[in-house]
Amino acid sequence: WIGFHTKLSEVTLPFDDDQNGINDQVVIKFSHVVAENTPKGLAAQRFAKLVDEKSNGRIKVEVIPNGGLYSDQEELEALKRGDVQMIAPATTKLRTVSPKFQVLDLPYAMPNHESIIEALNGDIGKTLLRSIEKDNMRGLTFWTNGFKQITTNDGPIKKPSDLKGQTLRIMPSPVLEKQFQLAGAKAVGLDFNETYKLLESGELNGEENTISNIYSKKFFDVQSHLTFSNHGFLGYAVIMNEDFWKKLSKDEREILSESMKETTEWNQTHSFEMNKEQLRLIEKQSGIEINTLTDQERKIWSDQWEPVWKEFEEEIGTELMKKMKQLRA
Ligand code: LMR
Repeated sequence: WIGFHTKLSEVTLPFDDDQNGINDQVVIKFSHVVAENTPKGLAAQRFAKLVDEKSNGRIKVEVIPNGGLYSDQEELEALKRGDVQMIAPATTKLRTVSPKFQVLDLPYAMPNHESIIEALNGDIGKTLLRSIEKDNMRGLTFWTNGFKQITTNDGPIKKPSDLKGQTLRIMPSPVLEKQFQLAGAKAVGLDFNETYKLLESGELNGEENTISNIYSKKFFDVQSHLTFSNHGFLGYAVIMNEDFWKKLSKDEREILSESMKETTEWNQTHSFEMNKEQLRLIEKQSGIEINTLTDQERKIWSDQWEPVWKEFEEEIGTELMKKMKQLRA
């Protein structure tokens, strides 16, 4: 493919050891769909910087944000083909590769930051990354964004039935579709970067997303109500093209692994804080009405959505379900 070991110069110096690729540059195209000022956008940039420093500029990570190269529906296929070397799709979108990933979409599964980190860095995460080791993909790690909230133009939304008859944008996912169906709403799986204009035109009433995505894509400008519900998790699996990985030298792999480890630590500690800060910015910059669910109200949503756990148990697998139930308890 294009980009691998692109020659820096056509001129061969006398002491060049071209056999070992000393003068060659490795280019990694890293495509994602969100804005730059987000947990994923900043992590991707940080990773690129670390790789650049550690390799003295020999490995170059080109980050293409905002779906500038591929939409969320396209990027997975582009990675498998090797047209890009890295992506970090929302875990929800990996359901098509491994249905086990749906375990992370279960409503009110992980109650806090700590349980999310435990799930992703522990047994659940390991099982999930292994389950996508196919179709030329190599799962590297998980990055976090945060908890999802609900926005709409027909609020306030305090209890599930307040969503009755509304049409909402979700990431394509039977688990998410079922949740909103149980609340009497219609949820449609659409591309992330299509959302703003459909909210603006009124074709959609609302959507669910993290504060970071609601802020950076300005959904708050075209929505009247935000329900702070923390009802689900949004995070990412960072994936590399396997053929590309195999062609790298041991040193190159080490540089990438170290940089990824440092980036993941940074992302997993800062993403939640970032969502908090951006909530303050939304409060300051817009007139959107924010309703934070009380514990009692949250319990009503959680009870309403309980059937989702049962319905997807078989697809997800009992072992993973058992582990997730322990985290939830
Ligand atoms: C979405 O489609 O809402 C998210 O997956 C976007 C993202 O990558 O955070």
